Amino acid sequence: MSNYPYEYIRCPDMEQITESPQTQPQSLHGFVPLLGLTEAVGALLVILMIVWTTYFEDGFSWRSHPKLEFNWHPLLMTIGFVFLYANAMLIYRTQRNLRKRRLKLLHAGNMFLIVVFVVIALVAVFDSHNLASSPTPNMYSLHSWVGLTTVILFCCQWVAGCVAFLFPGLQPLLRASYMPIHVYFGIAGFIGAIASCLLGLNEKAIFSLKDEYSKFDKEGVLINVIGMLFVLFGGLSVYLITQARYRRLSMPEDEILLSGTG
Ligand code: HEM
Ligand code: HEM
Repeated sequence: MSNYPYEYIRCPDMEQITESPQTQPQSLHGFVPLLGLTEAVGALLVILMIVWTTYFEDGFSWRSHPKLEFNWHPLLMTIGFVFLYANAMLIYRTQRNLRKRRLKLLHAGNMFLIVVFVVIALVAVFDSHNLASSPTPNMYSLHSWVGLTTVILFCCQWVAGCVAFLFPGLQPLLRASYMPIHVYFGIAGFIGAIASCLLGLNEKAIFSLKDEYSKFDKEGVLINVIGMLFVLFGGLSVYLITQARYRRLSMPEDEILLSGTG
């Protein structure tokens, strides 16, 4: 039995990398309730973000009103770079009965959709600085540095994922060796996104509320609750994705492909 946690199995139209069943027995015990809790926390997070940006920060606009254009930034980052990101990572576990090839396309397609959300969210924040009546400098804050680094990492990860797992010509051994790196950077990027949201949220609370923040103003409390939900959602998602016992193992239909008759 190898010490290497992944085992490579060759099949005609796809590559399957599974954890060795001997080292990591699969047990789905607790998966469904935990996933339900994670999705509920994620949905509440998105709803509270909508409530905050709509009722406390005066809603949305595009170009004509830079202050309101800003509000797309936290909302789209939360939906795309947090909620969809977690779901796209978890797809191999939540949709475990689908064929591997389909899962790969869904995983890669969802990750691409996230890039679209992130680009619109970035345009919104850059516009809100550049189009303001007295323009604000760009990229000066720690939040913007951590945020942009995370976005760049995510884009590199997407390209590397396509090359490694969709491009047919790559050496199987290279794919297998890249897999743990792919999983590590996928999770690291997600943690980076959560950290960026916390930094951005705190910065916005201090900018908008000033002294009111220290007086437990309603908006300040809502911002803190949203921040705590980011932490909880991030913690639950990372737990689900790092439990080897919840990994999808090869399916009977994969076996048909493995035997070369499918
Ligand atoms: C992972 C998600 C996020 C990423 C990648 C991100 C990225 C960025 C970047 C690159 C900027 C710089 C724009 C410029 O300099 O013109 C920025 C600005 C800003 N973001 Fe975010 N952001 C994220 C989430 C959030 C959230 C949830 C909030 C909450 C309100 C927020 C609040 C702000 C604020 C107030 C600014 C303007 C001040 C500054 O440049 O730091 N961000 N963000
Ligand atoms: C920024 C984009 C991406 C991120 C953040 C990401 C993240 C992840 C994560 C966290 C996992 C572990 C999933 C699990 O253990 O259940 C994973 C697995 C995987 N990813 Fe990605 N990924 C990205 C893009 C891609 C792309 C473009 C492909 C191309 C098809 C791809 C193919 C795979 C494959 C084949 C697995 C192994 C699934 C398994 O057999 O368990 N990924 N990815």
